[in-house]
Amino acid sequence: MNRFAVTTKRPYNILIGEKLLGDSGTYIRECAEPCKICVVTDSKVNGLYSQVLISSLIESGFQTSKVVFPEGEHSKTISTYSNLLEALADEGLSRSDIIVALGGGVVGDLTGFAAATYLRGIRYIQIPTTYLAAVDSSVGGKTGLNLLSGKNLAGAFWQPSLVISDYKTFESLPESEMLNGVAEAIKSGMVAEQSLIDHVIKKDYAYVIERCVSIKKSIVEADERDTGMRQLLNFGHTIGHSIEKLSSFSISHGHAVAKGMVVEARAAYRMGLTETDTSTFLTDTLTSCGFDLSVPFSVDDLYRYALNDKKISGDTIAMVVPESIGKCRLHKISLSQLRNFISLGIEN
Ligand code: NAD
Ligand code: GLY
Repeated sequence: MNRFAVTTKRPYNILIGEKLLGDSGTYIRECAEPCKICVVTDSKVNGLYSQVLISSLIESGFQTSKVVFPEGEHSKTISTYSNLLEALADEGLSRSDIIVALGGGVVGDLTGFAAATYLRGIRYIQIPTTYLAAVDSSVGGKTGLNLLSGKNLAGAFWQPSLVISDYKTFESLPESEMLNGVAEAIKSGMVAEQSLIDHVIKKDYAYVIERCVSIKKSIVEADERDTGMRQLLNFGHTIGHSIEKLSSFSISHGHAVAKGMVVEARAAYRMGLTETDTSTFLTDTLTSCGFDLSVPFSVDDLYRYALNDKKISGDTIAMVVPESIGKCRLHKISLSQLRNFISLGIEN
């Protein structure tokens, strides 16, 4: 097992290894006295992993309860959030208790937001069970939910107290779900470390999770509240979020980000913002990994949803542009240029 210490305002550890889930209670006892723990999970993960987790928590002296909501992005709503808050109150959780998010990015984001707001903030622990959640969403404390107008439009920065990342749990993940993690890991490589991308392709999971966590940890420590360099981690997401939303989430997050990275890289080059056209490398790499990179939406529709992007300030948007493979920078363009940017990115 490897341990990473994240030195955000409220510091925490990330544990990465194989078969950690069954010893979760022991790891949680390292940072918490016996208390009530409410495990929050989705309908799929519940049947797979909640029993082994809860047994370990009980063995370590915790008093447990469980909340389960239907799996999938359609659950990342105000109504699931509101039911979750009511359930926490019904269970009588106090400020000295803990919530555990057992699942992928949807469970982690929603549970984190509930933890950030229930009783004005209580501790929570991330136990990611998807490749995407292990390489990205379980780290950094971005929590939230979707609004009708777009992705992740309500939320809070609220760091977990511990992350337990057991990559043995990915063995039950279908290939299309593994690809969601592949896209985010390739994004991290594009932003900060070219050599990481070879390891992603070789399916060197332990190495990839550790490097992604390490890269994200450094960025989040430098910019916890996403006012500057953390926005680089949003490469491919302006268009990716629009695609996800326009598909009514039938195109999942990582698959949408893969398409978004190609569109944004191509647009940046064609608009003269980068000297190198990294979209060719991205297209080849992502296609060889198994991604469908087609974008079945119009420029106008993509533009409409892109106008909800959180990197907009006044009448400009900070786009993440890849200068080379492994190095991105933020480049502000005016909202009046954004439609043209998208158009250049989706034309073949
Ligand atoms: P998800 O949580 O919906 O999980 C995907 C599917 O896999 C679900 O059906 C789930 O039930 C199932 N599943 C989970 N673990 C499993 C396992 N071990 N075996 C079998 N099935 C399993 O989706 P995701 O891809 O993990 O996360 C996507 C979400 O993460 C999006 O909402 C995205 O916006 C968010 N996200 C957040 C951040 C952040 O920093 N907070 C970063 C990236 C993505
Ligand atoms: N996933 C982008 C971030 O955490 O900032």
